Amino acid sequence: MKFFVDTAEIDDIRELASTGLLDGVTTNPSLIHKSGRDFMEVTKEICSIVDGPVSAEVVALDHETMMKEAEVLRKIADNVCIKVPLTIDGLKTCRALTDDGTMVNVTLCFSANQALLAAKAGATFISPFVGRHDDNGFDGMDLIRDIRLIYDNYLFDTEILVASVRHTNHVLESAKIGADVMTAPPKVIHALFKHVLTDKGIDGFLKDWKATGQSII
Ligand code: E4P
Repeated sequence: MKFFVDTAEIDDIRELASTGLLDGVTTNPSLIHKSGRDFMEVTKEICSIVDGPVSAEVVALDHETMMKEAEVLRKIADNVCIKVPLTIDGLKTCRALTDDGTMVNVTLCFSANQALLAAKAGATFISPFVGRHDDNGFDGMDLIRDIRLIYDNYLFDTEILVASVRHTNHVLESAKIGADVMTAPPKVIHALFKHVLTDKGIDGFLKDWKATGQSII
């Protein structure tokens, strides 16, 4: 499973990229607002840090303007992936861009039928929002299971990008189901490294090592 980080904070992206575990980045207008940075400038900087896909979202609602915005965004770097909402105009834009060889991430997916439409529109990625789905009384992971089944039934190439990830269990379940990608905030990715028994084990080993009086270097 590929790991994307869901943020526009450069320091966090640099730190995670240095682990060699980061396969891409997703942003959205809210994350750009939170960063306080210029959209074009910060997207260009992110694209220079990470080789994989960097999602940059259009804000227009009609196909024609979405295409114009995508035209500007895709000039930022070769690894920009245009993010479009799951609407009729969004999927028209998706088809036009993917036919032209541009990566497209279809966002704000909340049903398996929507995911089916996105795959038929040639989406590179579909982003089902599991956390927001949970918040609204549904089971976000059931949605991922349904999409996996449908995509496997028809051998769609569209990658399932689990989004709106809130905790490490979302990551674990995504991997068990066979999602292609997950995007999570930096703090969730950091939490994946942690286990109380790992910390306890290190403490014990260091205590005993100190008692030997030896050193390695
Ligand atoms: C993904 O591409 C979205 O930007 C993101 O995962 C949304 O997450 P949220 O529901 O925590 O805002």
